[in-house]
Amino acid sequence: MFLVKDNFQVSNVHECLIIGLFERSEKFEGNIAVLDEKFEGQLAELFKSGDISAKLGKINKIHSLGKIGSKRILFVGLGKEKNLTFEKLRDSFGKLFKEVTKNKLQEAAILLDSFVTEKIGSLDAAHAVSEAFALATYRFEGYKQKSNEPEKNIKELTVYSEVSDEDEIESSLTVGFAFGKGTNSARTLVNIPGNLLTATDIANYAKELAEKYNFEVEILEKEEIQKLGMGAFLAVNQGSTEPPKMIVLKYQGKEQWEDVIGLVGKGITFDTGGYSIKTKDGIVGMKTDMGGAAAVLGAMEIIGELKPEQNVVAVIPSTDNMISGSAFKPDDVITSMSGKTIEVLNTDAEGRLVLADAVTYALHHGANYLVDVATLTGGVITALGLHTTGAMTNNESLYEQVLEASFEAGEPMWQLPLFEKDKERVRNSKIADLNNSPGREGHAIVAGAFIGEFAEKTPWVHLDIAGTATTSKEYDLGPAGATGVMTRTLALFVECFEPFGK
Ligand code: BES
Ligand code: MN
Ligand code: ZN
Repeated sequence: MFLVKDNFQVSNVHECLIIGLFERSEKFEGNIAVLDEKFEGQLAELFKSGDISAKLGKINKIHSLGKIGSKRILFVGLGKEKNLTFEKLRDSFGKLFKEVTKNKLQEAAILLDSFVTEKIGSLDAAHAVSEAFALATYRFEGYKQKSNEPEKNIKELTVYSEVSDEDEIESSLTVGFAFGKGTNSARTLVNIPGNLLTATDIANYAKELAEKYNFEVEILEKEEIQKLGMGAFLAVNQGSTEPPKMIVLKYQGKEQWEDVIGLVGKGITFDTGGYSIKTKDGIVGMKTDMGGAAAVLGAMEIIGELKPEQNVVAVIPSTDNMISGSAFKPDDVITSMSGKTIEVLNTDAEGRLVLADAVTYALHHGANYLVDVATLTGGVITALGLHTTGAMTNNESLYEQVLEASFEAGEPMWQLPLFEKDKERVRNSKIADLNNSPGREGHAIVAGAFIGEFAEKTPWVHLDIAGTATTSKEYDLGPAGATGVMTRTLALFVECFEPFGK
């Protein structure tokens, strides 16, 4: 797929040559000068006249008319060198690879050094190239009998760089590609409809991951879930004909099972709302209610590839939320694995119920730090919109580390408050310890607060991805549909994690 070389010659033959362009810079002059000898100064003219633009986000294609070895040149506008960030660079590569795919190019070469700035080295640039390549060319095939002609993706990309060691570039490319691929796996899980991806299917998928990467795997069946007293998880499954699965993957990258990071992902394969039923419009799209589980599994794939020196336990409670004569109902009181009793006021607030037992089970497996990811509330969309994941925490140090990772991954998040008053609302029930739905006001916050009750004193971060797990519009790094959001944030967080507070 990627070939790394250090000896670029203008005469080298490629279908397409890719060059980064900064606005009015010496680097531009230098890069262009070598080529422009062959073009007799015409490139500089095109640039001057604005036919080739170095503005950020511009992709300019020219044919070389046989003047150099490559048939075409794609110039990637990068704006002013000092303004370029890693995120903007990755987006630009995304746009580039979409263009390359559209042009049905099978092979290309990229002059990596032309994308390097004072802040962004060639190894970072290599990571951005391969991550963007995987993300931007992702497509979900779907189930049409007559599929469109399969899009031809680029098969070989030669990466030329003179400033870094070839092996180092190669390994950065491998890492970036792993991040992209893990995210794509998460996207696919989310895009598959609920009839074709049941809790059993997710469990089987987790088993396959475990086999491939040597994770320890535990799938709790209904009987064991009952024995462990996971009454909150079971209540949500009660109306279903599909058996529930509590899925556990363990990755041990340290000598001792210590400083364990627990990743917990909501795995509702379809959310009807139960007896607090959703509207006919609100119910469409609820196959994506396992976006948290997908992010955790995607991150585990990246962890399996990169093998960081960390310990991770992933816990995924999976079921659908259905309606039948046996389904749980508003007013029911259920007992969670922690022993805490819960008055059900709304069966559509099911995510926090399955997560409650999953968090308790992660602690049971020795998690010392917790991050949960869930398509938890419509409220987070009202609060933050569709681009920003909502975050809550009981520990600012842990949150800082998650935030740092989200910044690096280009997956923005914003913290919502967790005050005593919010906790009081969750604890307000006449007949149980907690209630699962204290009302519409700030409901993203009380949903998070509810999960926090089960994390207790363990450092915990909650990520509500209801708004960010899917998108209705195509973007630089992917198509419309599932985004795979938080896959890369979680994996980066794990990779860079520093234990604290012992
Ligand atoms: N799965 C939904 C949240 C959701 C909404 C995800 C929109 C993706 C897009 C969740 O289980 C839910 O139904 N939440 C309710 C909670 C309410 C009943 C307290 C909500 O947000 O409306
Ligand atoms: Mn719901
Ligand atoms: Zn839900």
